[in-house]
Amino acid sequence: MSIVEKAAEKLKTLQPEPPLPPPVEAAVPHSAPTIERLSGKARVVEQATEAAPLWHVDQMALERAGLLPAGDEANDRLADELRRVKRPLMENAIGNGPKVLAHAERIVVTSAVPGEGKTFTALNLALSLARELDFEVLLVDGDIPKSHITRVLGLGGQPGLMDVLVDERRQPAEVIVRTDVPNLLVVPVGGRHPLTAELFGSLRMEYVLEEFGGRNPHRLVVFDSSPLLATPESQALVSHMGQVCMVVAAGRTGQHTVDSAMQSLNDSQYVGLILNMSCLPASESYYGYQGLYSQGRLAGEA
Ligand SMILES: Nc1ncnc2c1ncn2[C@@H]1O[C@H](COP(=O)(O)OP(=O)(O)OP(=O)(O)O)[C@@H](O)[C@H]1O
Ligand SMILES: [Mg+2]
Repeated sequence: MSIVEKAAEKLKTLQPEPPLPPPVEAAVPHSAPTIERLSGKARVVEQATEAAPLWHVDQMALERAGLLPAGDEANDRLADELRRVKRPLMENAIGNGPKVLAHAERIVVTSAVPGEGKTFTALNLALSLARELDFEVLLVDGDIPKSHITRVLGLGGQPGLMDVLVDERRQPAEVIVRTDVPNLLVVPVGGRHPLTAELFGSLRMEYVLEEFGGRNPHRLVVFDSSPLLATPESQALVSHMGQVCMVVAAGRTGQHTVDSAMQSLNDSQYVGLILNMSCLPASESYYGYQGLYSQGRLAGEA
């Protein structure tokens, strides 16, 4: 054998073993019944969902947008006012209110006309409720035309409420975004649709809201909305709610306007009025908060 032939023989012995073929369905063998194979797959999906990163809520961006009060003093006052607002809402939600409500876990923040402080109130109420030990809060952006919460949280372009209403193959849970604020979840607006009022009034909407409520009895669902007298869809949205927080801009919105908006509510709902932007000094009023903010329940138990 020549030197070249000997070298070729030696080389053959140094070749690595060919790799073994990958195991076929190693975790879930083919012989396993279908249900077991499906549940094996379901576990994988669940793990992937849990691993999804938490959405960062940028508090500075909220402050810049005027949706969080800037400064410790303003924050403390707001926290106090919101405690008064949220207490009856929570009592109702757990069935300790004056009467039994259908879907007391669904709370909408609305107003008669634009600019009365709905988004400010919805966001701060949701944050305040999320600080409660016994509740988890799902904040839903139900103001489709303005989608203020969606934009300020940087969730524009993400699938949301409208997508699960339009596409029945989508599961409502798919559009719930878990945030890095403990106990706070968000549903953005999603894509636009010309028939928003009809979608809000549909049976599909009721199903989606049921699913948003989840199987968790400690979940509260807080909705921001468009004004009752400005868009037909907000009346459709509000009709699904057990509890309604009606924001009224102090010194701006007249009694007649508020009364007209209240006509679209029904007797079975709990309605709380929140006087916002009052200039009453704190010492003079139960609702008092000097400066821009004043919230309190003016009228409640229906
Ligand atoms: N209690 C408050 N304290 C401080 N600022 C407030 C308060 N309420 C509302 N604002 C400010 O007033 C403006 C209007 O508030 P907001 O956007 O919440 O109103 P809105 O009812 O949601 O309006 P729209 O109908 O246009 O959606 C915002 O700039 C907000 O920062
Ligand atoms: Mg708004």
